[in-house]
Amino acid sequence: MSKTYSIAVLPGDGIGPEVTIQSIQVLLTAAEKFGFQLTFTEGLVGAAAIDVTGNPYPQETAKLCKESDAILFGAIGHPKYDNDPNAKVRPEQGLLAMRRDLGLFANLRPVKTWPALYHASPLKNELLDGVDMVFVRELTGGIYFGEPRGRTENGFKAFDSCVYDKNEIERVSKVAFELAQKRRKKVTMVDKANVLATSRLWRETVTELAKSYPDVELDFMFVDNAAMQLIRNPRFFDVVLTENMFGDILSDEASMLPGSMGMLPSASIGSKVGLFEPIHGSYPQAAGKNIANPFASVLSAAMLLTQLGELEAASAIEQAVETCLAEGLVTEDLGGKLSTAEVGNELIKILKP
Ligand code: IPM
Ligand code: MN
Repeated sequence: MSKTYSIAVLPGDGIGPEVTIQSIQVLLTAAEKFGFQLTFTEGLVGAAAIDVTGNPYPQETAKLCKESDAILFGAIGHPKYDNDPNAKVRPEQGLLAMRRDLGLFANLRPVKTWPALYHASPLKNELLDGVDMVFVRELTGGIYFGEPRGRTENGFKAFDSCVYDKNEIERVSKVAFELAQKRRKKVTMVDKANVLATSRLWRETVTELAKSYPDVELDFMFVDNAAMQLIRNPRFFDVVLTENMFGDILSDEASMLPGSMGMLPSASIGSKVGLFEPIHGSYPQAAGKNIANPFASVLSAAMLLTQLGELEAASAIEQAVETCLAEGLVTEDLGGKLSTAEVGNELIKILKP
């Protein structure tokens, strides 16, 4: 009997469904080729879930996720909530609730460059050669979740709290060090220790933990400097370890190295089931037009297979993406002429057993 994995599929909002369907087809082709089975069960999340249930992360979706081997996630967000500061529920709350509920405390965001896409990057080509880094972003703590948060009664004041405890820092830092051991063995911790108490706790905790990883080089960088170095000398970075909000901001910045947000996959891990999603958002302007770049989703699907231990299949998918890039079989954001679905079909042709 070949192995069977159950995948929860949460297409979500905007372009989420149209890129996710390409990933499903690519995954099925890879499964057939490499001899394993996949089952897909769809669940509601985000604005799509609010429309049906009033809740961006309904109970049934939570249950489905917990019973699955992995989660393939599309995108979340809808413009009708963005300009309504009084909206009681927001699609994004679904994603945040889900990260917390599933214990997904480490978010891995690999950033590399492809020579075939240098033309799409706003940076000079010589800066892009050999760029290959991974962000390890803490995902369930910090200012995204800290208490107290809210508004005073008169509405004239609002506050958010950045809170971290040692245990939260340690568990995500271990992920970073272990990842570095499989790569160039360097961790750069990004913080604001010259200003923030939480950053000083991070430094102290990570310095202590680093003693257990003598083969890994550790250095520290202030976040403002890191924002500059990402553009000035992106080759410097191997594993970038950072807290929730700094990781959010810097990883969007770093997406300009490969040239498009449409190229960056991510994995959120921490408990039994991992969640795999493109870092791009729901891109509502493109929704339903069949023009969205499916590579970030497809590369997230490859990360999903890596997590399940199907390494050959994962690397075959990554190679298929590279072939498409090299041959210009890409969507218009990358200067190509193909639709979302046509790129999916090309990937399947390249992968076909
Ligand atoms: C991301 C997104 C989310 C975040 C939003 C949608 C809540 O920007 O995954 O990077 O800020 O974490
Ligand atoms: Mn973000």
